[in-house]
Amino acid sequence: MNACLHSPCHAERRARVAAQLGPDGIAIVPTAPERARNRDSDFAYRHDSYFYYLTGFTEPNAWLLISADGQSTLFCQPKDPEREIWDGLRLGPQAAPARLGVQQAYEVTELDARLPRLLENRRSVWFPFATHAGLSQRIDGWLQTVRARARAGALCPHTQRDLCVLLDEMRLIKDPQEQDIMRRAADISARAHVRAMQRSAAVLRAGQPLREYQLEAELLHEFRQHGAQSPAYNSIVAAGANACVLHYRADQALIRDGDLVLIDAGCELDGYASDITRTFPANGRFSGPQRALYDLVLASQEAAIAAIRPGARFGDPHQACLQVLTQGMLDLGLLDKNHSGTLDDAIAQRHYVAHYMHRTSHWLGMDVHDCGSYVEPAEIDQVSERNDPHSGETVLDRPSRILHPGMALTIEPGLYVRPGEGVPREFWNIGIRIEDDAIVSASGCTLISRAVPVQADEIEALMRG
Ligand code: GLY
Ligand code: MN
Ligand code: MN
Repeated sequence: MNACLHSPCHAERRARVAAQLGPDGIAIVPTAPERARNRDSDFAYRHDSYFYYLTGFTEPNAWLLISADGQSTLFCQPKDPEREIWDGLRLGPQAAPARLGVQQAYEVTELDARLPRLLENRRSVWFPFATHAGLSQRIDGWLQTVRARARAGALCPHTQRDLCVLLDEMRLIKDPQEQDIMRRAADISARAHVRAMQRSAAVLRAGQPLREYQLEAELLHEFRQHGAQSPAYNSIVAAGANACVLHYRADQALIRDGDLVLIDAGCELDGYASDITRTFPANGRFSGPQRALYDLVLASQEAAIAAIRPGARFGDPHQACLQVLTQGMLDLGLLDKNHSGTLDDAIAQRHYVAHYMHRTSHWLGMDVHDCGSYVEPAEIDQVSERNDPHSGETVLDRPSRILHPGMALTIEPGLYVRPGEGVPREFWNIGIRIEDDAIVSASGCTLISRAVPVQADEIEALMRG
């Protein structure tokens, strides 16, 4: 990724934040810390998403301040020829204003010395709550210094506000530049899924052994080959019964002829995640029972997709999916009609959780499970109580978010059938999930992850090729 992706959109986002800070407000946004992996090795550095959203800057040890009058101040690593030999070039505060469009920039070593003065005579301080360990204590320390100057006439900010509330709302609607990066990320991930499917069929046709981690290697190859910086999350490559473990990782299990393989993998490109799941027959041909369940999951996904449009609720695709999946479970004998009753009963009693235990969607963006409230802000006080038939607990429901163009979400129904009494044996140990990425459009939604086929026939054709 470019160290500084300065574009007018970052300045425009900072201006939108400034306009919401109230009189004499100031916002403080640190980037992410570097994290030790073991001994003196660090994890690959990943910037903080909020900080990156406002700067496009990917160096560690950096802070952004935005004040209500629209001025932005960056604190960043100083130029250091000695360190740069080891760690690479740094932007440095001198070049930062021209490159990032901020008004001032200082060395990060000056943070503690300068911050009290920058906070003096402000009314409110905004920062992301509960996201950075030690941040509020650090800010408290600066505020104590301001307060100590009260007799000299300094006013100390008396309000602390959660900056996430502003930024989460802004990040929920992806602007055209963000949508473009997300499309490209999804495209690379789709190619990676195609590559893994084709590799699986070729190796099994040749009668050679194939392990899950070898398909993970195909995914990583394709991600990096097309410029993605890393996976957006740990790749799941699950053969056979492993697909029924929701958070399984690519491990060393042998992929056998006749297995289904579930791959949930997506790359991160220029700070944006993609998140795709495909389930395919290792040898390129679905068995009858595999195909029956696959077509059911796909039908439920289609119902969910059809429910996405501006004005619909975030929860609508999940409900549409549940109707189709639960009816299919009743029809295929995965749920016992004598016990579960009608479709409405089975949904009300949540009997489907025996085989479908997660939700259908989450927001997608810079973070794979992206920020943004799932409750409609204007209706936050419309609380209703219900009793959860499984846990027996009282659950508070609020109206879910109204969808608008530019929101991005996944649609990822699944079926996970474990061996059990009354469960038809031909379905035992089949785990299927199908996951695509959607951006809400003016009239419905656009699926940005469909460069990998999803119809069973098309997957089989691809794997024959
Ligand atoms: N890969 C994470 C998810 O599907 O939510
Ligand atoms: Mn997902
Ligand atoms: Mn996923």
